[in-house]
Amino acid sequence: MNQLIKKNNLKEFRFAFLIHPRGFEDIYVKYPIARYIPKWLLRKILLMTGPLVVGKIYGLKTNDGEEVKGEIIAIPMTGRDMMKDRKKASREVERGVKLASNRGNRIIGLGSLTSVVVSGGVDMVGKYKTKITNGNALTVFMAFEGIRTICQKKDIDMSKAKFAIIGATGSIGSGISKLLIRDGGVQNAILIGRTPEHLQKAKAEFIRLNPNLSIEVSDNLTQVADVDVVVVATSAEGTILTSEKLKKNAIIYDVTQPQNVSKSISLERPDVVVVDGAISKLPEGVGYTTKMGLSKGEAFSCMAETMILAKEKYNDDFSVGHVSLENVDTIARLARENGFKRAPLRSWGKIIL
Ligand SMILES: NC(=O)c1ccc[n+]([C@@H]2O[C@H](COP(=O)([O-])OP(=O)(O)OC[C@H]3O[C@@H](n4cnc5c(N)ncnc54)[C@H](OP(=O)(O)O)[C@@H]3O)[C@@H](O)[C@H]2O)c1
Repeated sequence: MNQLIKKNNLKEFRFAFLIHPRGFEDIYVKYPIARYIPKWLLRKILLMTGPLVVGKIYGLKTNDGEEVKGEIIAIPMTGRDMMKDRKKASREVERGVKLASNRGNRIIGLGSLTSVVVSGGVDMVGKYKTKITNGNALTVFMAFEGIRTICQKKDIDMSKAKFAIIGATGSIGSGISKLLIRDGGVQNAILIGRTPEHLQKAKAEFIRLNPNLSIEVSDNLTQVADVDVVVVATSAEGTILTSEKLKKNAIIYDVTQPQNVSKSISLERPDVVVVDGAISKLPEGVGYTTKMGLSKGEAFSCMAETMILAKEKYNDDFSVGHVSLENVDTIARLARENGFKRAPLRSWGKIIL
């Protein structure tokens, strides 16, 4: 099957992964001195500095044993600032892609909101001498695996339970919805978002996958009140899901970064399980030098997808815009072949399964 993959024959294949600080805390972890600088000034300094190489990805080799080197490039805006000024954020992401391309990286992964502000990578395709992925195909696959695992553990029959997908019209949310319908046997779902036309379009697409699906749409978050499993895949500016809206014993599967699920749920609703979503376990010896709040040997799946494509010396754009099920199946197979797995399930950082 590997011959289907378009390979690059460059001897030294390099790749990059773009990140951004989720909030100021991420900046303080990397540069403790920044804690003493007023936020307005820090914002200015970051923008003047521009995108920056902040780390390395190590331990990857092609199947022929050639080393594949990766670097991590940070965009100088926090998640909240990026969502507040998407135009400025997209300019900074483009600067980051250009920098990565000029440094000889041949595929670039767009982490978290760096993908969101450039239309899931679509705006960057063909602009520079580098291929693009938003990493969302593996994110969707690992999320589905995690949801299936927690449902099994909690004796939830996925074909009988009611699901809500908040952000079902987005790149990841639509991909997870499609996989839940195709492979999870989900029959009953509500799609929640903010743009009614997008929701209607998504509903029509999902019904084509299973015409017997019972599916509603809503732009009102209180509709999760009778839902068993809530998937959160939004790119909102702050938290949108809080404890008072939830059914007793509900499961929340949260893929958002920065998180759109309120931390107060852990204190106010001990009956509810919030799962930290879409984390991959890396093969032995593979890692990266930048702190991202995850355990050693684990990575966000968008980064893991970029690593896999680089390891395969993939020579085309991969996940851009919405996620196709074909790409999910391809990346799931490549993940298996290259030793990338779903990480243990965690809730607010603590292993639960
Ligand atoms: N865990 C991981 O490994 C991982 C990997 C990659 C990305 N992520 C994170 O996953 C999230 C989704 O990414 P994506 O690429 O799928 O984003 P996306 O394509 O921009 O989709 C975002 C979705 O959220 C909806 N939305 C935005 N703001 C909302 C609000 N205030 N209320 C309700 N719905 C809202 C959008 O609705 P409309 O546009 O239809 O209005 C859309 O459906 C982001 O937080 C990203 O950082 C996580």
